[in-house]
Amino acid sequence: SSQFETRKRDHIKIALDSRSQTEGQNGLDSIELIHEALPELDYKEVDISTSFFFSGNASQKTHSKTDAISLKLSSPIFISSMTAGHEHGRQINEALARLSDRRQILMGVGSQRRELNDSNAAEEWAQVRKQAPRARLLGNIGITQLIKTPIDKIQKLIEATEAVALFVHLNPLQEVLQPEGTPSFKDGLQAIENLVKIAGIPVIVKEVGCGFSAETLKRLHNTGIFAVDVSGKGGTHWGRVEGYRSQPEQMLYKVAQTFQNWGISTVQSMLNAKEAAKGNPRSYEVWASGGVRNGLEVGKLVALGAQKVGIAKPFLEAALLGQNSDQLLQPDKAEQNIRPEQADQNLEDLLNRLETELKITMFCTGCRTLQDLQTKPVIQA
Ligand code: FNR
Repeated sequence: SSQFETRKRDHIKIALDSRSQTEGQNGLDSIELIHEALPELDYKEVDISTSFFFSGNASQKTHSKTDAISLKLSSPIFISSMTAGHEHGRQINEALARLSDRRQILMGVGSQRRELNDSNAAEEWAQVRKQAPRARLLGNIGITQLIKTPIDKIQKLIEATEAVALFVHLNPLQEVLQPEGTPSFKDGLQAIENLVKIAGIPVIVKEVGCGFSAETLKRLHNTGIFAVDVSGKGGTHWGRVEGYRSQPEQMLYKVAQTFQNWGISTVQSMLNAKEAAKGNPRSYEVWASGGVRNGLEVGKLVALGAQKVGIAKPFLEAALLGQNSDQLLQPDKAEQNIRPEQADQNLEDLLNRLETELKITMFCTGCRTLQDLQTKPVIQA
């Protein structure tokens, strides 16, 4: 198997290891919601449904007209982008896409970098689509690829997945700590602006677990992007993941340890987004992810202004739960497939728990809708 496939397999294995998690650092423990002892509501009225709405941008100075998109979603919770990129990866993607299809939630696909040079990789999406025709997929490409790739090739990625939007991930710490990384970020902002002009679908900029400062969020204001997913510190940390790919005696291992708590927490990133919007009417939606592990945390982030809330590692874990992931991820054990029914059940259980926790958060703060949760003063000062 290629170096790429080995790397992706390592990433999954190491990301699932608790040492790669910046647990307790997402900042959400310091956010307290106000209990409402007398909600003017029946629990069954609580409505967590939302939509993905993009008005199109024919009015902007774009080269291609972008149609309006309106998708009903059962909740603001989405599956955050995770690379697959090998045989078991496809099975993981299929399980996640079936969940997106059945339950009407958004799913970010992992980096589509491999598809830029390998046309077979794009075929995998046709397989995934067969099982999940109505999955609401969001494409994904890294900024360093975007900078050096002609735009028509990026367009192909969007077509392959039939994506409703495209994530561009910003991951300077990961690229610089990855032995085979490409830490070339010059002209990134310009590349994002160019992409917005021709993509034909909404562009969403995200981190991968190190968050955003107010200054960076301000620089993104006039790019025409649809949203920023702050993906802050508090969950999977890519400095740690790359570090643990090296041996303890190797330099990169030690360097990664120095940066093991680097980044801006998910809560601080959300506060930075508020700060950046001051006197500067925000031109994009703010989404949140990074260490979100339950529906109460989803509710807190909605109260802090998030339109959508992404979760990565727990969905991966659920898709693999009860299977020996060590064996499963070995290249020569491809016959030990993921049991689809079990993966489906585990993913259903996880989403049910998250949605129940979000509903209880809303009931106990007296919020019937997500909009109530965003607009009522529910955060303890
Ligand atoms: C990721 N993440 C990620 N992000 C991205 O934009 N493109 C990618 O290809 C990947 N690949 C990937 C693989 C695996 C195995 C994991 C766990 C994560 C990052 C992910 O989308 C998210 O931003 C962070 O993982 C933080 O969320 P959690 O894991 O703390 O919920």
